[in-house]
Amino acid sequence: MGRRHHTSPEVHLNLNVRGLKESATLAINERCAAMQADGREVFRMGLGQSPFPVPTPVVEALKANAHQKDYLPVRGLPALRESVAEFHRRKDGLDFSGDDILVGPGSKELMFLLQLVYYGDLVIPTPSWVSYAPQAHIIGRQIRWVPTRADNGWRMTPDELAQLCQEDPTRPRIFIFNYPSNPTGGTYRVEELRAIARVAREFRIVLLSDEIYGEINHCGRHVSVARYYPEGTIVSGGLSKWCGAGGWRVGTFAFPRSLRWLLDAMAVAASETFTSTAAPIQYAAVRAFEGGLRIEQYLSHSRRILRTLGKSCARRLRAAGLDLINPKGGFYLFPSFEPHREALRARGIRSSVELCHALLEETGVAVLPGEVFGRAPEELTVRLAFVDFDGSQALAQSDVIGLRSELDDTYLESCCGKVTRAIDRICEWVGATHPAAV
Ligand SMILES: Cc1ncc(COP(=O)(O)O)c(C=O)c1O
Repeated sequence: MGRRHHTSPEVHLNLNVRGLKESATLAINERCAAMQADGREVFRMGLGQSPFPVPTPVVEALKANAHQKDYLPVRGLPALRESVAEFHRRKDGLDFSGDDILVGPGSKELMFLLQLVYYGDLVIPTPSWVSYAPQAHIIGRQIRWVPTRADNGWRMTPDELAQLCQEDPTRPRIFIFNYPSNPTGGTYRVEELRAIARVAREFRIVLLSDEIYGEINHCGRHVSVARYYPEGTIVSGGLSKWCGAGGWRVGTFAFPRSLRWLLDAMAVAASETFTSTAAPIQYAAVRAFEGGLRIEQYLSHSRRILRTLGKSCARRLRAAGLDLINPKGGFYLFPSFEPHREALRARGIRSSVELCHALLEETGVAVLPGEVFGRAPEELTVRLAFVDFDGSQALAQSDVIGLRSELDDTYLESCCGKVTRAIDRICEWVGATHPAAV
């Protein structure tokens, strides 16, 4: 008898993704859809998607390039690689040329290829973005989590990284460092970046700096760690977050010359898997990375909206007794419900998964459990994406107000009302759990 191709348990044993669950994000989405079908109001704060539209000049460039039909070079369209290098020179003061750039169908895919071609442990802080660890798991790499603490704003310290590396100083490692952070919204100061870079250099770590939220640092002051460890840092970016183009699937890696061999190896793997990123998208992406006044204005408004909304949500959640930092970039909050542990336990809530489940069923607010970001299951943390609003309307209204004045509560109520109502519901729910808190 030949091999069976049914769903028998023996065949499952051959699966390389054994033990991996479908992403928690998808499960929450399905539950949201079911609740909405039942006529219940749902606040979609689970999925980390930009609320803003793709800037008009970039959409126009895509329209003008709809006819592009040829396969493109595996490393990316030369004009796009040039424009990404120029973007990093202009924005980050980093000295890249087009030859240093690799373009892929999303930075997520590039991260997977990097882990595939480089034989090393994956080092990531906890909490970290949901997909790094499952990718390492699929490929069969060891995962080493570096702890962080709430009272340090979930920032990783260089000492903790050094401690881990000292166990086996010459072991090959990829350290993925993401800031502004998904899930915490936090970022790092220049002195901290320098200190982390020193440790990375000492242990010759391949540092993958995931700066996909860099352009939406809320004050427009993102600094790349590649400035302090240029020879060992790959800068990861793309259009998914700052350009509102997650569904376009375009991501970029920028390599130092000393790591060109890694770029070459990834290009080999890419040529046997995705071949190249969609041609019309790459032509349009050239326009996005070129920037200019209209795109800078779009970014200034996006940052201001996210800054005002993020701060307001954080302030109100803190007033309800939750523990969290003000976000410094991106569109996430990572509140801890630990201060309400006893009261929540009395209601049968003992883990972040149970917490998210209860929040969704009782308030209609969908958030993700801290557990999927690498936190201990019993820790009562969640990630909340404050993106459930109409980004086009919010940008248009912000434009009417002008960049000189601040946005106020009236603006937030009228343009981001769903988010503010979701926060109200969480605060009321916590208050009902623990009346002294509100
Ligand atoms: C921290 C982080 N890195 C990488 C990605 C992947 O982005 P993309 O594959 O769309 O470039 C995401 C998307 O959610 C993210 O949050």
